[in-house]
Amino acid sequence: MDAADALALLMSPHGRVDPYPTYERLREHGPIVQAAPGLYVVTGYPEVDELLRDSRLGVLDDTLRDQVWPNWRESPAISSIARSMLRTNPPDHSRMRRLASGAFSPRRIAGMRDVVRAQAEELLDSMVHRAEDGEPVDVLADFAYPLPVGVICALLGVPPADRPLFRRWAGDLTGVLEPEITAEELAAADAGAAELRDYFVELVVAGRRAPADDLTTALVQVHDADGERLTGAELLANLVVLLVAGFETTTNLLGNGLVVLLRHPEAAAALRADPGLAPAYVEELLRFDSPVQLTTRTSTAPVRCGGFDLPAGSTALLLLGAANRDPRRFPDPQRFDPTRDQAHPLSFGAGPHYCLGAGLARLEAQLAFPMLLRRLPELALAGAPRHRHRLTLRGYESLPVTLGTPAV
Ligand code: HEM
Repeated sequence: MDAADALALLMSPHGRVDPYPTYERLREHGPIVQAAPGLYVVTGYPEVDELLRDSRLGVLDDTLRDQVWPNWRESPAISSIARSMLRTNPPDHSRMRRLASGAFSPRRIAGMRDVVRAQAEELLDSMVHRAEDGEPVDVLADFAYPLPVGVICALLGVPPADRPLFRRWAGDLTGVLEPEITAEELAAADAGAAELRDYFVELVVAGRRAPADDLTTALVQVHDADGERLTGAELLANLVVLLVAGFETTTNLLGNGLVVLLRHPEAAAALRADPGLAPAYVEELLRFDSPVQLTTRTSTAPVRCGGFDLPAGSTALLLLGAANRDPRRFPDPQRFDPTRDQAHPLSFGAGPHYCLGAGLARLEAQLAFPMLLRRLPELALAGAPRHRHRLTLRGYESLPVTLGTPAV
């Protein structure tokens, strides 16, 4: 199979369900392969890492975006993400990132530990209560979705009653992170983005009127040493991206990770017995079935990487999920092995756009997995989980499980 065919397979609904065999097909052509004129697919760990850190590559700027999506300014979904730090290059990116990192401080994240634990406990209680008749429950709908939404909303200062609105808005909006999107999906993403923006406008107004100790207020008030602030449009775009980037990704880490654990009962038993193993488990789960499978970069100058020349103006499809299974970096990469010597999976990216919420996502997963396994020692899959058929944000649509007898 040549690289173009492998890429087409990867993009197909069938190929998205299990992209890992296709990654190996692509890898047979080398760590970097040209799949079409100007399009390079990168599966190697050192190559993805190097390209993410290389300042000659950037995310799509407005000029390139005009070529790819001529009407993007009319799309609330694309334009809101375009104005955020996720999709801007220096100097705007560096300024926004500096300002947001100030508000997203390690102290604020560490302060979320009790919130995460309390919300996970509450969700487990209500799941156990609902499953008293022994019928299967959807652990995605009842736990893996509401936990990250609840945590990010608590961080942003969104009142609990409004949280259910966010799953659909954000779920629809994340469609624009995929390499391809249908007109119908784009319409849903635009509707979600417009609702979210309206919601955040109200939240910002409320934060200005009555400042609270939350991230929204911190972002409204933040300024750097030169007195620079986020513009109104940037503030809204970054609030939207914090929600979008912080919620479905973490849901997928919890969902994908739980499926792996339930399919490896000895490993699950070891984690149940010793929650101190959670950090190593979470790193291996992030590597083994990465919640974010890819990102893209465009070169502004010729770049030589891994013995390969990428001309200026090339697009590089950086397959994080493939890099995380590069046998040059991870021996026996197709095996889930939480005892492996951790070698930093690229699941949170690398370089200037390295995930701002990595600490929070790790905190949630490190607390949630042991809590689930200890409270529900007989937890088991009830039938095949249903995939969401997305490539960038890899995860399940539903995850039916039986809870068994809960521990007291
Ligand atoms: C960026 C993954 C959770 C906020 C990124 C990137 C990746 C990623 C791969 C880099 C994208 C690129 O280079 O193009 C993940 C995964 C998560 C997760 C796998 C969960 C398991 C979170 C959370 C938050 C968050 C919880 C916030 C609450 C962000 C932001 C960026 C980002 C703001 C953009 C940073 C920048 O452009 O400078 N994330 N993320 N993420 N993530 Fe996460």
